[in-house]
Amino acid sequence: MSDLVATRMEGDIAVVTIDNPPVNALSHALRTAIHTALERAKGDSAARAIVLTGAGPTFVAGAEIKEFGSDKAKADPSLPDLIALLESIDKPTVAAIHGTALGGGLELSFGCHYRVALAGSKVGLPEINLGLIPGAGGTQRMPRLVGPERALDIIVSGKPIAVETALKDGIVDAVFESELVENAVAFARAKADSGETTVHIRDRDDKIVEWKDDPDRFDTVIAEKTKKSRGLDAPVAAGKAVKAALTMGIDDGLKFERNQFLRLVTGEQSEAQRHIFFAQREATKVPGVGKDVKPRTVKTIGVIGAGTMGGGIAMSMANGGYDVTILEMNREALDKGLDRISKTYDISVKRGSMTQDAKAKRMARLSGTTSYDDLSDCDLIIEAVFEDIGVKEDVFGKLDGIAKDGAILASNTSYLDVDRIAGFTKRPDDVLGTHFFSPANVMKLLEIVRGEKTAPDVVATALEVGKRAGKVPVVVGVCHGFVGNRMLEARSAEAEDLLLEGATPAQVDKAFRDFGWPMGPYQMSDLAGIDIGWRKRQARGERAEIADTLAEQGDFGQKTGKGYYSYEDGRTPVPRGETQDIIERVAKEKGVERRDISDEEILERTLYPMINEGAKILEEGIATRPSDIDVVWVYGYGFPVGKGGPMHWADRHGLAKIVERLEHWGRETGKDVYTVSPLLKTLAGEGGSFAEYQKQGA
Ligand code: NAI
Repeated sequence: MSDLVATRMEGDIAVVTIDNPPVNALSHALRTAIHTALERAKGDSAARAIVLTGAGPTFVAGAEIKEFGSDKAKADPSLPDLIALLESIDKPTVAAIHGTALGGGLELSFGCHYRVALAGSKVGLPEINLGLIPGAGGTQRMPRLVGPERALDIIVSGKPIAVETALKDGIVDAVFESELVENAVAFARAKADSGETTVHIRDRDDKIVEWKDDPDRFDTVIAEKTKKSRGLDAPVAAGKAVKAALTMGIDDGLKFERNQFLRLVTGEQSEAQRHIFFAQREATKVPGVGKDVKPRTVKTIGVIGAGTMGGGIAMSMANGGYDVTILEMNREALDKGLDRISKTYDISVKRGSMTQDAKAKRMARLSGTTSYDDLSDCDLIIEAVFEDIGVKEDVFGKLDGIAKDGAILASNTSYLDVDRIAGFTKRPDDVLGTHFFSPANVMKLLEIVRGEKTAPDVVATALEVGKRAGKVPVVVGVCHGFVGNRMLEARSAEAEDLLLEGATPAQVDKAFRDFGWPMGPYQMSDLAGIDIGWRKRQARGERAEIADTLAEQGDFGQKTGKGYYSYEDGRTPVPRGETQDIIERVAKEKGVERRDISDEEILERTLYPMINEGAKILEEGIATRPSDIDVVWVYGYGFPVGKGGPMHWADRHGLAKIVERLEHWGRETGKDVYTVSPLLKTLAGEGGSFAEYQKQGA
């Protein structure tokens, strides 16, 4: 156990080094070892001050997530015990931070009088991303360090903060360019020499005192900072806990925080969010693409088409540090595309999320052309032209002619057959799909579509490029719509019939929002433009009577001020009588009898077909594992993260119930989407789950 923590003396300063590779996660064994070492250093009269630091690439990255919910997580000494021990030490204690001090790691450092850090390191309280709040004093000590408003910002955003910013905030006391431990020792010695009384964070109230007379003033701050938290419990709990720092003494505040933490950690939302956290990591493990497969080198990227998607993809790649050349059909389209990119960056600058300098750097990485020859040096070329197989054929034929040997050729197609596209070249092993989501500079999901002949190192390269561009990549197989859009079609199969049978767009949308989706399907159609689906259906010779009637009268949604809803102020959807008239007329023409539709029925006829389709996707091997599907839906389509994705949710909801209702609706409607997947039926029959199926490595 002593291997995990080493103490040495640097003259009269004790240096306690935590050494639990790879990231010094606070497992039970490590907590025990730290406790022993600190007790010893506390009692050692030769040590005038203590420096607490981490070996390896980082200080303490946080709690050991694998122990969550287990007996080990609960066993003493707990993290709060360690912090309490630190706070019982009178001689100066200094946490020396390098790499990342996140979550429990930062909370541990809050037990010290001082924190010093190596330049370039990061600190933060990311618990919110796992549906939690800090559980070892973060919500009580952070407000005492930086004030309650900034503290709540940090906790609710969960984002890591550069130590240079943390220095301004007062979270760290000094930042050193190099020689962290030597500098920390000198810092600690200077504090010991100065003889000044050192105050622990728990005993400070200078940053909270102004709130104490009227802590209810903080309620408006809570409302403002949690307004985007859509049904998630953790941000609300964070607000309450920070407020407790204003209304209670430290010990009661700590107890309050602990209770909130324990409630969240055993709750469904946090379980779902932890599932997604691990699922995201798991998704990058791709059969046949092991660690031995080395990605190809990518420095320069070509993007073809500067439209909605090409522009966003080019921005993502520039954000990832790549040099990007965008190709358009003509100068006018190119200038328009580049201008839109510049304006989109301007919005970030205006919002304060990007500096003017950062924008300039990104714009400098982007250049435009109308000549394919300018792409001949690119390591990767991503095509984002019109969704038309003839246009794709033309583009890939040209690319095959000019791209250098070993260049990767990718298509952003939403539905088209990637194997067919690969067949337009003489190098199908270099071709794959990279399916981004709109807006591509914002949305995190990247479906990497692996064709029949795609080489493993091409997949490995796409994974690496995707990660560097800040995306969450999931590798999928070739089929109509891949994983996400194929399931979306299943979800939408009943969109028209629900309306014809008696539901209203507003009712369906509300049922979706109540479930936790950011918006319902009709709001979504109005936002994306009803014309998009209409054109797609026209190309396929299909018709959706309600949507297409709206489109034909020029009601495309928000952009024309009218769609399923009307938009008097340009943004707010107001239920529209005319839409209702169309619905009722079409229902009459089709002889559909209208009745009351319950919210439960709406969910059964939208969510269940999606889950069923997900099971079919697994059977066909289009997705590697159920959790990959969950990642696709949470990061690409706004499936509520607190429900963990459709397959995780299905497990909780009960597969048997889902099968029974699918069969029921199959009998009622005769629709294909209700034909139950054999896999789903088997799992339901065995009392199994998608999670079990995944564990068995099926
Ligand atoms: P868009 O119409 O906004 O942009 C396409 C651009 O490609 C236009 O600027 C056009 O001038 C250019 N272009 C067309 N043919 C060209 C050629 N031969 N050479 C050079 N440039 C050419 O279309 P959007 O929405 O960006 O879609 C592009 C692709 O991305 C399609 O395959 C689409 O299915 C896919 N996609 C679209 C999503 C969306 O939400 N819009 C989401 C995910 C994928």
